Amino acid sequence: MRIGKFARCLSALMIACMLAACQGQNSDKKKVIGLSQCTLNDEWRKSMLREMEIALSDYDNLELVVRDADNDCELQKQQVQELADLGVDVLIISPAEPEPITKVAEQAYEAGIPTIITDRKISSNKYTAYIGGDNYGIGREAGIYAAAHLQNGARVLEVWGLPETSPAQERHQGFADVLKEKGILTQTDTIHGEWMHDKTEARLQSLGQNCYDLVFCHNDMMAIAVKEHFVKTNCPMPIIMGADAIYGAGLEAVADGRIDVSFLYPTCSKELVQACVAILNGDSVAKYTGLPTGAVDATTAKSLMIQGKSIEAYQQSINRKKDSLDELTIRFGFLENSLAVFVLLLIALITVFVVLLIYYFKLRKQNALLESQKNELELQRRRLSELNSFIEENSRRQLMLFAEISHEIRTPLTLIAGPIEKVCRLCSDASVADDLKLIRMNAQKLKTDVDRILDLGKLKSDKVRLNCSVCSLNDFTADAKAYFDGIARQKHIEYTFTPADSDISISFDKELMEKVIFNLLSNAFKFTPVGGQISVTVITEGNFAGFSIQDSGGGIDKPDEAFDYMVSRDRSTGTGIGLYLVKSYTELHGGKVELTNTDGGARFKILLPVSAATQEQPAEEYNGMLGDKEQHILQEISGSHFDDTILVVDDNSQMLEYVAATIAENYRVLKAQDGMQAMEIIAHEQVSLVVSDVMMPHVNGFELCSYIKDNIDYCHIPVVLLTALGSDMHHLQGSLHGADAYLSKPFSADLLKVTVYKLLMNKHRLNNALLKRLMESGAFKSPDVPVESLDDAFLRKLLARIDEIYADSSYNVEKLSDEIGMSRGHLYRKVKELTGVSPVEFLRHFRLKKAADLLKSQNMNVSEVCYATGFTSPAYFTKCFREYYKCTPTEFTDR
Ligand code: FRU
Repeated sequence: MRIGKFARCLSALMIACMLAACQGQNSDKKKVIGLSQCTLNDEWRKSMLREMEIALSDYDNLELVVRDADNDCELQKQQVQELADLGVDVLIISPAEPEPITKVAEQAYEAGIPTIITDRKISSNKYTAYIGGDNYGIGREAGIYAAAHLQNGARVLEVWGLPETSPAQERHQGFADVLKEKGILTQTDTIHGEWMHDKTEARLQSLGQNCYDLVFCHNDMMAIAVKEHFVKTNCPMPIIMGADAIYGAGLEAVADGRIDVSFLYPTCSKELVQACVAILNGDSVAKYTGLPTGAVDATTAKSLMIQGKSIEAYQQSINRKKDSLDELTIRFGFLENSLAVFVLLLIALITVFVVLLIYYFKLRKQNALLESQKNELELQRRRLSELNSFIEENSRRQLMLFAEISHEIRTPLTLIAGPIEKVCRLCSDASVADDLKLIRMNAQKLKTDVDRILDLGKLKSDKVRLNCSVCSLNDFTADAKAYFDGIARQKHIEYTFTPADSDISISFDKELMEKVIFNLLSNAFKFTPVGGQISVTVITEGNFAGFSIQDSGGGIDKPDEAFDYMVSRDRSTGTGIGLYLVKSYTELHGGKVELTNTDGGARFKILLPVSAATQEQPAEEYNGMLGDKEQHILQEISGSHFDDTILVVDDNSQMLEYVAATIAENYRVLKAQDGMQAMEIIAHEQVSLVVSDVMMPHVNGFELCSYIKDNIDYCHIPVVLLTALGSDMHHLQGSLHGADAYLSKPFSADLLKVTVYKLLMNKHRLNNALLKRLMESGAFKSPDVPVESLDDAFLRKLLARIDEIYADSSYNVEKLSDEIGMSRGHLYRKVKELTGVSPVEFLRHFRLKKAADLLKSQNMNVSEVCYATGFTSPAYFTKCFREYYKCTPTEFTDR
């Protein structure tokens, strides 16, 4: 701002200087002298002009403007007017004739232009001054000369100039007056040469062969014409007199004898210039100035010629000097201007320097001020940063505290959620079923929230480390999508999945990305109304790949703020954490999240970077190391074949064959291509365990799992789910479906074998333990012992019924299946799976167990015990007893 002001001042100063310089030039403006010449076509007037220019050269401020009328009176009138209109400062008129020019001369004079009449006169005295030669004096001098050379009766010829002009009239008058005064009578002829050689020559013809003693011509040009005329006649040469005696014309004619004598007619140039200067200076000038004349004969003419020549040479030298002076003046002018510019620049520079100096000191002062302000700001910034650290530390501690509390909550919550799960399954009382479901749902929700708070705590304390593995995006997304198939059906939501045309495998932390996709899907399902649409699509964009989830849930108010921690209105949980975690986890991978409101809902895009390494196809199978225990199991089962039947379910035929072939090494294998087929098989076959893919058409893995676990006929069957998802997260989501194990794809054949084997062994062990526990001291009859599962409940029911009827020898398995409410086939398979024996054998074993109790505790013989426990013959009883206890009943009693 200030510099701009300075620049403006400086430019104003320079403009002022330039204006001043211009004004200086203006004050030197030249004065103009206008000269109206009747003609310039004769030596006298040419000489007059030359001499005026010489005289003017003494004055730098005078300029001469000349107009030549070429003896044309009309033209001269116009030219006089033109000069007056130009506004000349002084006007000089040498009129061709008095009458025609008088008026225009008067007008100029009356218009205030100083007007000088020269040479010839006008018919008025309205002019400033008249300056000219003494024409009457010339006439007289001529008369005196003639009188000295003539006698009475002499023949004289007078050659007139223009008779209307004053010089012609005055010269004639002077001549006539002297002859008269001298008393010389002459015979005089007259012709009018009108001042010009040619006209004189023409008029002389009218004289014929007339001879004269003397010829008086009003000027030298006409005298020369007379000489030329008489040379051509037979007349003796008369005395020829002229006038003007101008150097370069008449003077030469006198010197060379063509004219006998001439009379000086001064051009008055110097006097005219002096009069102009006086007028311009405001000085007064005489109204009439007449310059004297003198006779010039041959001798004088020669002297004057010499003088004229030297004047001419001198004049030429003066002209040259003047030219060089002009040149010098121009140069000096340039130098003067340069000096002015230089001085101006110097002044400007000095001004700039001074101003800069002032600004420098001002800036220094301002800098010092700014420096102190900066220091102050720095201090404030440091304080703020300390405050910020303090706040961060505080919020970190709060978060940790929050996380610790959440952690503390999680254990009891798990202990609530687990039993609730069991109670829900077992409870058949419709009046409390809904409440139980509500408790279960809220316990799950609370658990989800607590887990998110724990995740947030980890994130904020930078404890999250990526554990990446390469995974097929199509598989991962499809499996995650499948978790919500059931909810979609319940809510009649059109729920679609579109895989990528060419599958891509990228490296990411499955556990974290599962949280991301589950969060987004939960969110979508929460807000999409019944009958709405949700689509899951695997996408690639340049060097990124991932998935998009589009719902029709009405969109999100402020998409830009949706991911802000505690600012967003997380549609899923309302805690403001879910979407924050989605964004943070994605960005931890170097990925990006995009949210747009479109098609009546929200569309989330999750894009992860596709690095060169991750574009490769995933390894054929997971080569994770098995632990010692697992290695031991592998050795144990290698080459073994077990009775159990394993059902393998997968819609991908290659995968189905691969898994089936792996399991077939140790078990009998049944195959199904989707959940529906699997249900059919389970209903008719003795299936010990199911290995199922998650993402399948019609009935997916989760639904199949739920179907099995919620059904009393099949709930004993362990289910292994094969999923592209890798974290514990799906336990939370999938707990409703009750899967017993999850294997993440790609998995190793050994891991699958060990998992199946261990599940079956555990199942047998648990079943045995359960049976033992229930059998011992009649626990199955005690309502105080809590029921742990559907199988537990079933066994209790079975044992209770058998306990009632074991003494009845006519009671058979058909009756039992009717009373239990299960088909014979299901009862057979169920009892076989839970106890390892058929229902008939189980009844027999129960009777034998009862018999053993009776033999030990009651005072009964073998036969009595036989009938009391429903055996129809002692021999058969003894046979069975020996087979079961490896001793006879008698031996058993004696022990
Ligand atoms: C030139 C001239 C002179 C003469 C004068 C009279 O034009 O003829 O020779 O002296 O004019 O005005």
